[in-house]
Amino acid sequence: MFFHWLEKNPFYFALMISVVISFAGLLEIVPNFAQAARPLSTEKPKTVLELAGKNLYVKDNCIACHSQMIRPFKSETDRYGKYSLSGEYAYDRPFLWGSKRTGPDLHRVGNYRTTDWHENHMRDPKAMVPGSIMPAYKHMFTNVADIESAYAEAVTVKNAFFTPYGPEFKRTRAAWEAHRPKVIADAKKIADDMKDEDVKKAVANGEVPEIVAMIAYLNSLK
Ligand code: HEC
Repeated sequence: MFFHWLEKNPFYFALMISVVISFAGLLEIVPNFAQAARPLSTEKPKTVLELAGKNLYVKDNCIACHSQMIRPFKSETDRYGKYSLSGEYAYDRPFLWGSKRTGPDLHRVGNYRTTDWHENHMRDPKAMVPGSIMPAYKHMFTNVADIESAYAEAVTVKNAFFTPYGPEFKRTRAAWEAHRPKVIADAKKIADDMKDEDVKKAVANGEVPEIVAMIAYLNSLK
């Protein structure tokens, strides 16, 4: 009886539809406020060097072939490790979950690949994995990464989204100049584990080749 009445009253019918739809929406949204969806206590925002690498991941479109979301399937957890939790992406802007899985998932690649391996693989994937269809990224060894924009980005997400970057992250040139040596020091740690002499030289001169930022980012994916 109630339904007959409802069907004859477009206003109340529309109202009930909204109630039903928003209830379904709530069922999807509310669980995300649960503890497991919060930033995990071990979760730290990316360093400026890692952010610069992340920007290259976006620029060079790695997402066209790689996902960063391990699904709770045995085939994936056996291969990549623990399935991904939403809290792990708390400081990830934009999310790089991806959906194209031409290559392996990269969400925990930092756990089982090394700087040395990435260096060889990015220069010539086929040398490491025979028959690989991944393109070579040789230009990353000579192009210089934009670490200044990455710093500006860190300051922006700190101010806009309360991402926990320290008080030294300020929107001034002096603050950037003061932070720069820290980025170069991080880059040196990566370059020390690499073989490419030109990359080592560039870092010693205070420059950051793209490959260094890229590897720093890949190593941070754990
Ligand atoms: C055309 C598709 C394609 C693109 C674009 C691509 N990859 Fe790959 N990638 C693959 C395939 C296929 C593999 C598996 C074979 C191999 O290891 O080379 C792979 C493997 C990898 C691996 C090894 C992962 C593992 O678990 O062994 C890493 C790391 C990686 N890619 C990083 C990148 C990065 C960083 C970019 C962007 C700069 C990128 N890929 C762009 C297809 C791609």
